[in-house]
Order: sequence, then C-alpha cells, then structure tokens
Amino acid sequence: MIVLALETSCDETSAAVIQDGLILSNVVSSQIKLHAEYGGVVPELATREHLKNVQVVAQEALQQAGIDSGQLGLAAVTQGPGLPSALMIGLKAAQGFAFRLGIPLIGIHHHEAHLYSSWIKGDPARADFRDFEPSVALIVSGGHTILVHVSALLQHRVIGGTVDDAAGECFDKVGKLLGLPYPGGPEVDRLARAGDAKKYSFPRPMLHDPSFDFSFAGLKTSVRYFLQKNPLILESREGVCDVCAGAQTAIVDVLVAKTMRAARFLNVGCVAVSGGVACNSLLRERLEEACRLDGIRLRLCEWGFSTDNAAMIGVLAEQKFIRGHPPLAMDAEIDTSWAL
Ligand code: KG4
Ligand code: ZN
Repeated sequence: MIVLALETSCDETSAAVIQDGLILSNVVSSQIKLHAEYGGVVPELATREHLKNVQVVAQEALQQAGIDSGQLGLAAVTQGPGLPSALMIGLKAAQGFAFRLGIPLIGIHHHEAHLYSSWIKGDPARADFRDFEPSVALIVSGGHTILVHVSALLQHRVIGGTVDDAAGECFDKVGKLLGLPYPGGPEVDRLARAGDAKKYSFPRPMLHDPSFDFSFAGLKTSVRYFLQKNPLILESREGVCDVCAGAQTAIVDVLVAKTMRAARFLNVGCVAVSGGVACNSLLRERLEEACRLDGIRLRLCEWGFSTDNAAMIGVLAEQKFIRGHPPLAMDAEIDTSWAL
C-alpha cells in the first residue's frame, strides 16, 4: 500500500510518500526564516504559507517518490493538536486528495506520530515495528513535553507532562533573552558546547517531585532575573555561552532524570525519545549514558524525523489502517484539544 501524508500543524508544510513502512519521500518546507523576524510563529502567516505551499509540497513528494497519484491507496493527515487555521489547510487538502482519488483518509494525532517516529531508522529510512517492546516515550518539542507508557504498539497512556511551558519553549525563551536568533533551541545547543555548565547554576524544577510531570516556566524566569541582575554577561560571548550551558544542563538534567525514573518504575526495556528537542546534543549524550548504565535500549528519533514532518504521520496512519482504524469522514473537522 502507498500512503500520501500531509502535516501542517505549526510552521512546517510537509508531505511524504510511504510504502509498507519505507519512506519514499519526505518533503519539508520550513517557515523558520519567515517567523524569525517576529521571534515566534505568527499563526496568520503560517496559515497563508501552508495554503500557498501544500499542493506544491505534495506534488514534490510524489515526484521524488516516483509515484503517480493513481497508485496511492491511502491518505493521511495531522488532525490535531496544533494551530487551528494551519491544521485546517492540511485537513482540507487531504480530504480533497482522498475524495478525488477515491481513497480512505486517516486523521492522526500529532503527538502520537512524534511518539512512533523513534521507530524510523536507516538509509533508506524505514519504520520497523517488528521488534517492538514496552517502552517509556519522551515527546519533547516546542509545544509539548510528555512522558508516555507504551505497553504495546498503539497502546499507550500518558504518565506525565509539563504543568506550564514545554522544554523547547524554555530553550527558545532562553535563546531570546540572550538575543539569539529564533528558534533558540539549536543556537543554545551550539553555544553551550563552548560554555562552562558549572559557572552559573539554574533551578531544576520538579526534579525531586515524585510525579512524572515537568515545569519549565520557573527556570525561564530565573534566567531572566539573572540576566537583569548581570546585564554585562550579554556583552561577552563567553558569558552567553556559559548561560547557554547552565540553562541547557538544567533542562536536560530534569528530562533525563524523570524519563529514566519512569523507565525503572514501569520496568520497561526501552526508552524512546522524539520531537524537536530530541535533536539536542547534550540530551542525546546524557540519555545514551543513562540507558547504557541501566541496560535499557535507547531509541532516539533520527535527526530528519525529530522536527515536524509528514513521514511520521504516514507511518502511523499505515499501522492504524492495517489494524482497521476507521477512516475520516470527508467533512470531518480538526481537533485542537485531542488528548493523547
Ligand atoms: O517538534 P518541533 O519541530 O515542533 C513542535 O511540534 O513544537 O520542535 C521544535 C522545537 C523548538 O522549540 C526548537 O527550539 C527545538 O525543538 N529544538 C531544539 C534543538 N533543535 C530543535 N532544542 C534544543 N536543542 C536543539 N538542538
Ligand atoms: Zn511537533
């Protein structure tokens, strides 16, 4: 079966073609440059860009895959959560495709797609669920920080999440306070490599709280007050690098500690990590070390599939369709408050 998948939940217009788990193409048109000027995603601009690009990106995905639209057997789309007007563009485009081609359409939960994206591996990339085992999954991105107990493929339960800001949002805000370009996460990661993480210490919110919840708003505020008290730091590259390293280490300490505690508590043999912040080099390093020590298999989402992409939508839709998941009605709506 060949699947055409669309993803437009935030600031990436993406289309992918999947055949039996194999990713034939995964085209991502990023709007980062457009939103950088405003220091964050502007929903109206994102929507206009999705509208302009969605058909072009879908055609490009088909062309790169060497597939004619007549060969498609399934369409898939992100139905929620996300920016309402952005989601709407993808959903209406996918409904149009499915209707015109007479194929079923599966609506996918954005976070659930991130979760299973950790099972996409290799070159050429392929989703392989054959050796699936019970796992703890950390989904960590600009809009969400969620810990999930995955007892079997497509059977999962949320065990914790952020009570305020997501980890990626915290990275981005720290970047903004330091005057770094948007999005701050990759820049903080890059500059932290040249910094001393011990020079300035920032709080590790909820580290010792017995729940699997997170909180990052206080950490962000503490960086802001610190910089207000020490404005000269902003004038030295060394100082900025040290703040990046200190804040990044605080975020990563909490993410790693809670994820590993959940894995031990639930006695699972695998930890899966996905979402944009899964690109963070310190997080990857620290998880590798922690899993090695605990004898736990680590499934780190590969770079190209960590940030928003349609391949993860298509891969999950294929699995759902095989298991008899009902297709979406042609007049189905987006769902922005869909719980995982
Ligand atoms: O999954 P994603 O593309 O979009 C959402 O669904 O939010 O994640 C984007 C987030 C941004 O906050 C970005 O700063 C963060 O992922 N990010 C990083 C890194 N690369 C991307 N955060 C820390 N270190 C990175 N290397
Ligand atoms: Zn995402």
